[in-house]
Amino acid sequence: MTDDGKLTEEVLRAYAPTPDPRLRELLAALIRHLHAFAAETGLTHREWLAGLEFLTAVGQTCDDQRQEFVLLSDVLGLSAQVDHVNAAAGATEPTVLGPFYRPGAPQRAPGEHIGRPEDGAPTLIRGRVTATTGQPIEGATLDVWQCSANGRYDTQDPQQPPFNLRGVFTTGSGGGYEFRTVRPVSYPIPVDGPVGDLLRAAGRHNWRASHVHAIVSAPGYEPVTTHIFDTANEYLRSDAVFGVRDSLIHAFRPAGPGDPDDVSFVVDADFVLAPAG
Ligand code: BEZ
Ligand code: FE
Repeated sequence: MTDDGKLTEEVLRAYAPTPDPRLRELLAALIRHLHAFAAETGLTHREWLAGLEFLTAVGQTCDDQRQEFVLLSDVLGLSAQVDHVNAAAGATEPTVLGPFYRPGAPQRAPGEHIGRPEDGAPTLIRGRVTATTGQPIEGATLDVWQCSANGRYDTQDPQQPPFNLRGVFTTGSGGGYEFRTVRPVSYPIPVDGPVGDLLRAAGRHNWRASHVHAIVSAPGYEPVTTHIFDTANEYLRSDAVFGVRDSLIHAFRPAGPGDPDDVSFVVDADFVLAPAG
């Protein structure tokens, strides 16, 4: 069945002169893994062709609004693996950016609500941004976004005003931040393209564990793209894109005495940034 690796060696030799050292390393590893995949599975011509047709359909589903290749990477856990490989030691764990980030969200005042009453249960999220040394970071930026009670982002829902449930907050002295939002809900990722066919063939659901997105950044530090997950959510162990990290799961505790009386839930979520480089 195999050629004892002679073909693989021949192909590796053909690419060995690649001048760019990093490209050479990536190509060699890709060739080794692709050849091992075909050898290990005894890949048939029919299966190889079906795979190429699938990738062609993924490409044909991409346009300036939709990136089916990123979605494919997400549902195969590759995006999460790249996040993991690039995580800075001691910093908040990164997770998927997703397709719904929109630059240019309005700068908001501390504590401001990023949504509307109809978006869901009012929730206060607050915490501190510190360096891996423990030093509080004043002037750090949190760019946050999430979906509404109907599971849709503003960009998917003409009923929502532009930049609904989005906002940029800046930490004060002591690295503190707070904002009001709504308790996020689970929502389905798109399954009307080839990635949907893949999920159905695998018997997988297409729900994301409920979350608030955040990009946390500060001058002199590595930015981190991450989520705040809800400890009570049913999809934490089966998130469609493998984005959940235990360290990112937070309690949405019912508001009680001493909490602001305009919120139903309170979340304490700190972020840690590593020095740039
Ligand atoms: C999101 O969280 O916005 C998302 C991430 C990956 C795929 C689809 C959606
Ligand atoms: Fe999301």
